Amino acid sequence: MEAIRKQYTLTVDDQEEIIKRFTNEMLNGLKGEKSTIKMIPSFVTKRPTGDEKGDFLALDLGGTNFRVVLYHLLGDHRNTQDEKKYRIPEEAMTGTAEQLFDFIAKCVLDVNPPDNVPLGFTFSFPCLQFNIKDGELCEWTKGFSTSGCVGKNPTELLNEALKRQGSSIRVAALVNDTVGTLMAKCYEQNNCLVGVILGTGYNCAYVEMANNIPKWKGSKEGEMLINMECGGFGVLDGYRTEEDIELDKLTPNPGAQYNEKMVSGMYLGEICRRLMLKLVKAKELFQSATIDENGHIHSYMEFGTPNLSVIEADGSVDLEDVKKVLEEAGVHNSTLEDRKTVKELANIVSGRSIALAACDITAICRHMGEKSKDCVVGIDGSLYKLYPGYHSRLVKSLVGLKQTCLVELSEDGSGKGAAIIAMSTVH
Ligand code: BGC
Repeated sequence: MEAIRKQYTLTVDDQEEIIKRFTNEMLNGLKGEKSTIKMIPSFVTKRPTGDEKGDFLALDLGGTNFRVVLYHLLGDHRNTQDEKKYRIPEEAMTGTAEQLFDFIAKCVLDVNPPDNVPLGFTFSFPCLQFNIKDGELCEWTKGFSTSGCVGKNPTELLNEALKRQGSSIRVAALVNDTVGTLMAKCYEQNNCLVGVILGTGYNCAYVEMANNIPKWKGSKEGEMLINMECGGFGVLDGYRTEEDIELDKLTPNPGAQYNEKMVSGMYLGEICRRLMLKLVKAKELFQSATIDENGHIHSYMEFGTPNLSVIEADGSVDLEDVKKVLEEAGVHNSTLEDRKTVKELANIVSGRSIALAACDITAICRHMGEKSKDCVVGIDGSLYKLYPGYHSRLVKSLVGLKQTCLVELSEDGSGKGAAIIAMSTVH
């Protein structure tokens, strides 16, 4: 246990080293040189004022849920919305492009949107953008492996599916969820300069000056929001553990998204599961318990991060909720000592996620310089919203790195932001 604690706990010196490496990758990415951080210009060059008005449709595809939302921007920093959520069928996540995009198009029709309403498509995967509405999927992340999409333009794939379904609606803007999150927060208050998603996946966007992007061939005037794709940050030698290395090999995208695989909600439960088994093997855990052979504790990706949330939230003397989670995973008759160890493991794994996210936010703020001092970092995503203590521990880690930015929830950033960007294409 001691070795695990040591390996997973990042000291401020470790964090400074990671910040240095991250910054280096950011700069390489901006230059268009080889880098694990893509630094993609989003073609979004103006932030909203909060006065914008009108009805806009947003599609939000990025995790296991898919949302169609009709936003009514009311001006005065306010909006209302009508929304419908759908679960993406497994066959659409792993089948063909036509299956996935026909499913999406059918959901759009299902909400009966007004004709020709501008559509913002939040497509939360690494996409190189050619303009505000067109791009090319570089690779899938987060467990998607739908064929016929990599190298293709998601906007075209969706427009064709909409046509097939007899709809006249067409995509007006292709948006990454981090860029959407930043824009949505700006609609509420103007000084948001960083957008972060801490959910199934992990990524950041920030406001760069166009003349600070050597690879950018367009106008050097004004601002450009950058979709960093920093879940891909991979210069993490010395920090990736045996669990990270083994987990990565089993994902549909081995060798990619190292940072995301240490930070995001998709993987924290699995890392913890591996650590529990490691301690069982070392005879330090569950020595008097019985473990079902077919229990989830033995199945790859079956011990989800929501379990860690329950474990960390359990403040009871006997750790009754931890016991329940373990029972469900196939571990019976755990001792209180076992449960305390499991709780500590969850805390160690989430702590590393938080420390890494704090490194990246710090690197971005330091890169932006003076103007980042009292800027707002808008964050959305299930990990940030639902994991007990994530926000306060992130703030603490940032303070430890001498950051003075404000970390705030960007409520429904990924959808609302796309609507705001779709609006900018018609005004
Ligand atoms: C994707 C990003 C996205 C992030 C959060 C990552 O897997 O590559 O584009 O912003 O997840 O949803």
